[in-house]
Amino acid sequence: MKILVIGSGGREHAIVWKIRKDNPDAGLFAVPGNGGICDDAECLQGNANSPEQTAGIVLDKKIDLTVVGPEVPLAAGISDVFRQKGMKVFGPVKKGAMLESSKCFAKDFMKRNKIPTADFTVSYSFEECMKILGNRKFPCVIKFDGLAAGKGVQVSMDMEEARDFVTGIYKDKIFGAENQKVVIEDCLSGTEMSYLAFTDTKTFLPMVPAKDHKRVFDGDRGPNTGGMGCYSPSDTFNSGMEKTIREDIVLPTLKGLQKENIDYRGVLYFGIMLTEKGPRLLEYNVRFGDPETQVILPRMESSLTDIMEAVIEGSLEKADVRWSEKKSVCVILASGGYPGEYKTGIEIKGLAEIKDTDVTIFHAGTKKENGRVVTAGGRVLGITSLGDDIEKAAGNAYRAAEKIEFEGKHYRKDICPGRKD
Ligand code: AMP
Ligand code: GLY
Repeated sequence: MKILVIGSGGREHAIVWKIRKDNPDAGLFAVPGNGGICDDAECLQGNANSPEQTAGIVLDKKIDLTVVGPEVPLAAGISDVFRQKGMKVFGPVKKGAMLESSKCFAKDFMKRNKIPTADFTVSYSFEECMKILGNRKFPCVIKFDGLAAGKGVQVSMDMEEARDFVTGIYKDKIFGAENQKVVIEDCLSGTEMSYLAFTDTKTFLPMVPAKDHKRVFDGDRGPNTGGMGCYSPSDTFNSGMEKTIREDIVLPTLKGLQKENIDYRGVLYFGIMLTEKGPRLLEYNVRFGDPETQVILPRMESSLTDIMEAVIEGSLEKADVRWSEKKSVCVILASGGYPGEYKTGIEIKGLAEIKDTDVTIFHAGTKKENGRVVTAGGRVLGITSLGDDIEKAAGNAYRAAEKIEFEGKHYRKDICPGRKD
């Protein structure tokens, strides 16, 4: 069997690693991959965001199954193109991907399907936005409608901050000129958690829950990032809560997709705020989370390939997914300066010294250059460890994190409940 994974992050490395574990003999390919993925798969040049180009690669290499990691190709309609050509693809069609690619679409979908979320208003111009903000209490949350690589949301503490962000969107067009819609919503407080499920639109199979750490510095300080580390399970999660999430959020989402004829086959990620009044849906992502995938897949005992095939065939109701009781922690090693500007091309040392069999190193922004592994992005490596309890898993991950060296290396020291610097 030949499988192609699209993407170049830690998430895609975790997917490749898991597929390799499930199928030692599979032919594995990645577009474009990274400095770690290339040890497990053949990395191919190509524009991962172009459905036609990747379809050409699938034909050329006789690929049986394509797994789409990031949201951009999904929003560009890769699954529509592949399905039309009769190619097996894991990931939703463009209409389904709009749950992530358009905040307005997602919020309207939540509203018409009675899914609990923050109250919101949509603005279509700078003037309208300023008027709405003038009548609101702060903090409030401002969301650019389109994809913005994790930078499209601001929790505004006051009018000055809000005005700067809105000016950036409407006047400086920091996210591009086409889409100028903005969602303004109530700021919710509570604990965030990531709840991911496989779905073929009829059935959903939840994954183990995970807790991401979005801010760059310890104690949830500093700017938002793509995610600085994760642990699984989430410590604030219990079975009562899961029941509420299923009944109030997941099932109405599935019913909404069915009613609106959106044939969704892939992963659906629910970004949830556990508030005093119950779980509220902050966002959908239409793909595996990153770094969530780096703690979830190491706990997955069933074959990921089998589950993905069941999703594509629409036979998920017959599938079963088993999870390890072990806990997992992933610490992200980032480039100095991330999520702002950072240098690349810096040699990474110490990778070969990590001998702990509970530890797996997932590469994100890395590449191989003249036999060396060098940095090539903001989030560089994800150090994941399993353990009988979360403290042990964190201890293993941090011991490995200390051994790996590159100039400017930065990581959070509190990716474990109760852990301080
Ligand atoms: P989103 O892409 O919509 O999940 O937003 C990114 C991040 O912004 C979330 O992970 C939260 O940390 C924060 N956020 C989004 N919406 C809200 C909200 N209504 N209240 C508080 N924080 C929010
Ligand atoms: N960890 C957040 C995301 O994948 O969007």
